[in-house]
Amino acid sequence: MNYRHVYHAGNFADVVKHATLAHIVTYLQRKETPLMILDAHAGPGLYDLSCEQASKTNEWQGGIGKIWEGSGHPALQPWLDVVRAFNPDGELAVYPGSPKLFQAMLRPQDRLVLVEKHPQDHVSADIEFGRDPRVRIHLDDAYARIKACLPPPERRGLVLIDPPYEEKDEHRKLVKGLAQALKRWPSGIYCIWYPIKGRAQIDSFWDDLKSLAPPPTLAAELMIRPGDDPFRLNGCGLLILNPPWTLEESLKDMLPYLLRTLAPGKGSYRLEWLAREPA
Ligand SMILES: C[S@@+](CC[C@H](N)C(=O)[O-])C[C@H]1O[C@@H](n2cnc3c(N)ncnc32)[C@H](O)[C@@H]1O
Repeated sequence: MNYRHVYHAGNFADVVKHATLAHIVTYLQRKETPLMILDAHAGPGLYDLSCEQASKTNEWQGGIGKIWEGSGHPALQPWLDVVRAFNPDGELAVYPGSPKLFQAMLRPQDRLVLVEKHPQDHVSADIEFGRDPRVRIHLDDAYARIKACLPPPERRGLVLIDPPYEEKDEHRKLVKGLAQALKRWPSGIYCIWYPIKGRAQIDSFWDDLKSLAPPPTLAAELMIRPGDDPFRLNGCGLLILNPPWTLEESLKDMLPYLLRTLAPGKGSYRLEWLAREPA
């Protein structure tokens, strides 16, 4: 396990993912009833954008850096409110990853479960979150913990599946893990992030997911350059199973803004239903 998210924190792919997650959590919190959020590939949580690793790639400059300088968009508000709260003097210094984003949005009645397999990132998360009684941190494998945690007693919530795709069979492992999760909790909201290098690999991933007869599943993709170099991260995608009914409209607004701001004149976006009918 070599992957460390600190090299990529705040890049264009984090922007798409975190803005979408914040929309989903905001939607779920329209009701007072408690919810459970399971962040199955958590990472350490908070990133110092001036640290040695982040400065090595400066990927954040092509992501949150551009949004921070941009004109803003209402669809990004819930997420940007959290990023701003971490940078109260208006200078972008740190970036909240998904665990910090979720924690910042938790109400007293909500619960957050973090799973991280890398011992060092797990220790960092433990230091960051150890004292919050609403947060549990597990040094574990994502899919084993998903199996153990579902269905949540709250019966409302969100599961984030955000692996590093370092291993060749990650798509296969994910589809297997998701099949088990859906058996246990078919009505849960699942958000799956994936990198886009070449299209063929994604088409076959989608076909495997379709073979699960999933519940309604929305696919949102942002390409920051044409997908013609299979060795580069040309874009990223999210699959949202059982999405809130408000999400499609929000993404219809958000994706063109992100494209204009992050990849003007170069990229493209895509928003479509991978599955529409209830499974
Ligand atoms: C893409 S990063 C997570 C980023 C984070 N979710 C965010 O949005 O800020 C993926 C994380 O998954 C961890 N990881 C890799 N394999 C894992 C596994 N089998 N189970 C749990 N965590 C894993 C990596 O160490 C890494 O920290």
